[in-house]
Amino acid sequence: MNIPQPGILLPVPNQARYLSFSLGDPSLIRQGLHMLRELVDGEYTVVGLGQTLVSALDATIPGLKSFPMITAPGLAIENAPEVLWIWLRGEERGEILLRSQRLARALAPAFQLKEIWDAFKYAEGRDLSGYEDGTENPTGDEATSAAIVGTGNQTLAGSSFVATQRWLHNFDSLTSMSENEQDNCIGRRLADNEEMDDAPESAHVKRTAQESFTPEAFVLRRSMPWAEGNNGGLMFVAFGATFYAFEAQLQRMVGADDGIVDAIFKFTQPVSGAYFWCPALKNGKLDLTPLAR
Ligand code: HEM
Repeated sequence: MNIPQPGILLPVPNQARYLSFSLGDPSLIRQGLHMLRELVDGEYTVVGLGQTLVSALDATIPGLKSFPMITAPGLAIENAPEVLWIWLRGEERGEILLRSQRLARALAPAFQLKEIWDAFKYAEGRDLSGYEDGTENPTGDEATSAAIVGTGNQTLAGSSFVATQRWLHNFDSLTSMSENEQDNCIGRRLADNEEMDDAPESAHVKRTAQESFTPEAFVLRRSMPWAEGNNGGLMFVAFGATFYAFEAQLQRMVGADDGIVDAIFKFTQPVSGAYFWCPALKNGKLDLTPLAR
C-alpha cells in the first residue's frame, strides 16, 4: 500500500535545510531518480518533483503545474527552479550538512544543486516576528485529508502537492511598529496568541481563515524560519491534496478578491515561489510509477 512521506505529517524538526536542484545532464535523469529512490526515506528527507522535471520525462502528473505569476503592487516573486526540492529534516546541523553533501554528490550530474537554505525551529514554533505559527493547522485525519491525495485517486493516492515560498522579513519595518500594530497585521495577539475579534479585515488570519472559503481551503503548513547572515524570514511550506487551498489564500492575501491587501506585507515580502509533487512511498521507497504512465 502507498503511504505519504512521513515527514510531511510529522511536526517540524529543530533543524532543517531546503535544497533546490536544476536539471543537469538530461540523458541521466532516470539514473538520477534511481539514486534518489535509494537515498530518500520520506521522513528525514522529504522530496518533491517539479513540473520542469516531469515535462523533461514526457510524463504528466495531473494537478501539478508551475507556480502562478502573481501580480500585485510591489510584489516581485521569482519562480524558483521547479525540478527537484529536498527538505532535509533533523536535529543536528552537522548531520544535515553531511547528508546534503552526500545527496548532491549522488544526484550529480543528472541534477545540479542550485539553492541551499538553512532553517530551524524558533522559540518552539514561532515565526521570526515572534508570532506562533501553525496554530490553526488541521491535525490527525483532517491533516491527512488536507495534505494527502486520497485513495479515490488510483494513480496518485498517498502523494501530496507542496507550495513553497521564501519570505524575506524587513525587521526594521517590524520593529518600527507598536505591538498593537503588529497584532493588527497578524490578527492574533503576540502576548497570548489569542485571535482578535476586532482585528482589521487586512489582518493575516482574516485573509487566510480556512473555513471562510467556498469550498473550505485547508492546507497543512510546515513552514520554518530561515536565516543567512543577518537576514531572515519564513520558508513558507504548505502541503495540499491539490493547490486549490494555497491559491485561494494567496489570491485573497494579495487583494485579488476584494482589493484588501494582507497587512503582513508591511513587514515581509515573498522572494520566490515554486510548486512540487511529493510522491508516495511504496515498500519504504519513493513510488515513481506515476511518472511512467
Ligand atoms: C512570512 C509569511 C507568513 C507569516 C509570517 C505567516 C504567519 C502566520 C501566523 C502567525 C498565523 C497565525 C497562527 C496560525 O494559525 O498558524 C498564520 C496563519 C495562517 N497562515 Fe500565514 N504566514 C505567512 C504566509 C502565509 C501564506 C503565504 C499563506 C498562504 C498562501 C498563509 C496561510 C495561513 C493560513 C491558512 C493560516 C491559518 C488561518 C486560519 O484558518 O485561521 N500564510 N500565518
